[in-house]
Amino acid sequence: MTVAALRSKDLVGIEPLTPDEITLLLDTAESMRSIGQRPIKKVPALRGRMVVNLFFEASTRTRFSFETAEKWLSADSLNFSAKGSSVEKGESLLDTARNLQAMSPDLIVIRHSSPGVPHFLARHLKAGVVNAGDGAHEHPTQALLDALTIRQRLGRLEGLNVSMVGDIAHSRVVRSNIWLLKTMGAKVTVCAPPTLLPPRIEEMGVAATTDFDAALESADVVMMLRMQLERQGKSLFPSVREYFRHYGLDAKRLARAKKDAIVMHPGPMNRGVEIASDVADSGRSVILEQVANGVAVRMAVLYLLLGGHPWEGEA
Ligand code: CP
Repeated sequence: MTVAALRSKDLVGIEPLTPDEITLLLDTAESMRSIGQRPIKKVPALRGRMVVNLFFEASTRTRFSFETAEKWLSADSLNFSAKGSSVEKGESLLDTARNLQAMSPDLIVIRHSSPGVPHFLARHLKAGVVNAGDGAHEHPTQALLDALTIRQRLGRLEGLNVSMVGDIAHSRVVRSNIWLLKTMGAKVTVCAPPTLLPPRIEEMGVAATTDFDAALESADVVMMLRMQLERQGKSLFPSVREYFRHYGLDAKRLARAKKDAIVMHPGPMNRGVEIASDVADSGRSVILEQVANGVAVRMAVLYLLLGGHPWEGEA
């Protein structure tokens, strides 16, 4: 299979990807992991290629793992933050992107608070565009790293029960994971209080419930989600204490799940809101494995969009 299997210069979402494309990305990421275990973490695969990391929203994991992936693949990185740039003088997004395009980057990685911005740039720019999170819409590389982590721990995606619990309404991670997990044959349940459960979400092919214990009992994977207060215009639950009592995951509550169920969280965690430290730091948690896999997945994305042939482990 060649890079043409991705059928695009861009990765703007999971929704358009086929099972073969998802498998190619995951298999490539799997083989990229060994680079991070070498004494010298660098291969010349993307030497001479330039990637612009364009972040209009805060990020720790996504931004630093893209930068790490670029460095390990020997690409040149330019890092752009809206703060301190001419955006502060009123320059538009498209003008900003066109000016960066004039410096001939091969790929632009963008995070933005408005849904659809990566798609807009992909239509206007010659460079490839990778969506690093657009509002509450999609976060494709997060879903890929989640899938890689599940596959490593449980051996497969097909037939698994995955329960996603928390602020479903504002989560781009949920949307990308639903597309990916459904495409790969997993069964997805979303669970939240009624105010955080979008109406008609079942139309995406998932089960929806407000009963946390029911969502826990059947799950092979429990994915806890951050309460995204910054995207909530008004208070959607009575108090943090009340929220944690009904929808927070602690060790006592986790005892109701299957013994080998794994616990995930995309980060950043709100400890004591959606997850307790006795779970987050336990052997059931794969949260830091998710972060490590983030580098491998982003290497795979960069490589397949820019490299042009399947990775076979060459130096
Ligand atoms: N999971 C995730 O997107 O984390 P950051 O916001 O830190 O990038």
